[in-house]
Amino acid sequence: MSPFEYAPAPESRAIVDIASSYGLFINGEFINGAGTAYKTINPATEEVLSEIAEGSSADIDLAVKAARRAYAKVWSKMPAAERGKYLYRIARIMQERAREFAVLETLNNGKPIRESRDIDVPLAAAHFFYHAGWADKLEHAGLGSAPKPHGVVGQIIPWNFPLLMLSWKVAPALATGNTVVLKPAETTPLTALLFADVCRQAGLPPGVVNIVTGAGATGAALVSHPDVNKIAFTGSTKVGKAIAREIVGTKKSVTLELGGKGANIVFDDAPMDETIEGIVNGIFFNQGHVCCAGSRLLIQENVHEEVLERLRHRMSQLRVGDPMDKNTDVGAINSAAQLGRITELATAGDNEGAQRWSTPCDLPTKGFWYAPTIFTGVTQAHRIAREEIFGPVLSVLTFRTPAEAIEKANNTPYGLSAGVWTDKGSRLLWTAARLRAGVVWGNTFNRFDPTSPFGGYKESGWGREGGRHGLAAYLKQGEQA
Ligand code: NAI
Ligand code: MG
Repeated sequence: MSPFEYAPAPESRAIVDIASSYGLFINGEFINGAGTAYKTINPATEEVLSEIAEGSSADIDLAVKAARRAYAKVWSKMPAAERGKYLYRIARIMQERAREFAVLETLNNGKPIRESRDIDVPLAAAHFFYHAGWADKLEHAGLGSAPKPHGVVGQIIPWNFPLLMLSWKVAPALATGNTVVLKPAETTPLTALLFADVCRQAGLPPGVVNIVTGAGATGAALVSHPDVNKIAFTGSTKVGKAIAREIVGTKKSVTLELGGKGANIVFDDAPMDETIEGIVNGIFFNQGHVCCAGSRLLIQENVHEEVLERLRHRMSQLRVGDPMDKNTDVGAINSAAQLGRITELATAGDNEGAQRWSTPCDLPTKGFWYAPTIFTGVTQAHRIAREEIFGPVLSVLTFRTPAEAIEKANNTPYGLSAGVWTDKGSRLLWTAARLRAGVVWGNTFNRFDPTSPFGGYKESGWGREGGRHGLAAYLKQGEQA
């Protein structure tokens, strides 16, 4: 029990101005779509925030045509340094409107305002700044002397980091000279629609960025549109595989950033206080709705009890509740559907014989909530050790030797992220070199930077985003100089 209580510290929502309904952002204007409308809610309260257009395949066609026109007539002819100026302008406007973006993201997603304010929005702006710098230096990126854009890029993003995933997609596409049709996730369209306003404010030529809201069918129409040159997708492995099947035999390029089941490996010489913070950050950041979450904790057997005792103590101090409260650590689950998936997999953990422990906390009665939970006694065969839960649920396993840690960490269909905790630099490097994961963090977890490539092995996806590697995905590589 904490020795004192915090007073409420709610962020004001007065800074955001949510319209009662939104159309589709095509060719620089909001238009009424041909499809029906649906309601978008605040998952912490179930309050309806606005009505959103469900983009039809005719709407996708309009958006692709607008993107093609903008590519052929304006964007591909513009000097690269001029293109870069638009990205700088967008980045600066995002910073100026950071508080508005943070509040809107928290209202529509359910993540704590502390995270949207301190992580999502600053990182999103950083991606635009970083890529703005590349726009007129692409011939120095090591990708050939005259790398060329693909043309029109279709981008489909998930709901866990709505604005940040938009920036991971849109910033490199524009910097490399492509135009974009972006489909946000159905549950979290609002910051993408605010971004449309930023594009207008920045004077971005019409059609360079088009935003078509809707669900899976809208995304599928974008993937199959014949005039799209490249698809960039972040989301479930299931949909990623469907996209790969759809584009086989076409000339479309594709990058897929899919799921994960990241191993977070704790050796017995690990710095214990930092390790506990890193475990908590690894799985409870963003309610565990993180593709690279450290969702499989591998603890060396001789420190297993000590780590668990400290972890339970630390978890008991997590503040779960109102995402708009500045003291909140863990917010709402993004949707009823996601809460259902988390509940189903956790029940499978019970049924397979793992032991559940959850933090004692009062969950709000409205909205979608799940208490931070750990399962001990997990074996490698359990579903909760193999499948992505995508929620605040940690599966704990043990190991005796470094070789066993590696074998267990790599025993997964995924390969997105991993963490290593040890006092010894040589052990850290030895371990990192043997892990089949796109990102390996040493004595930290869930750190992101636009300069650093991110992406997976195996069922975690194809290609990299961020850094020089991420540029390659948006360029047709020319003759090597
Ligand atoms: P999803 O993969 O269905 O949704 C991601 C995006 O793809 C959304 O914009 C959605 O509208 C779109 N989409 C859905 N079906 C499509 C199709 N056939 N063609 C083109 N686009 C399509 O993910 P969902 O249903 O929200 O979550 C299911 C599970 O996927 C989660 O429980 C989690 O395990 C995983 N997931 C992983 C993410 C990651 O970052 N790796 C992000 C979101 C979900
Ligand atoms: Mg789905």
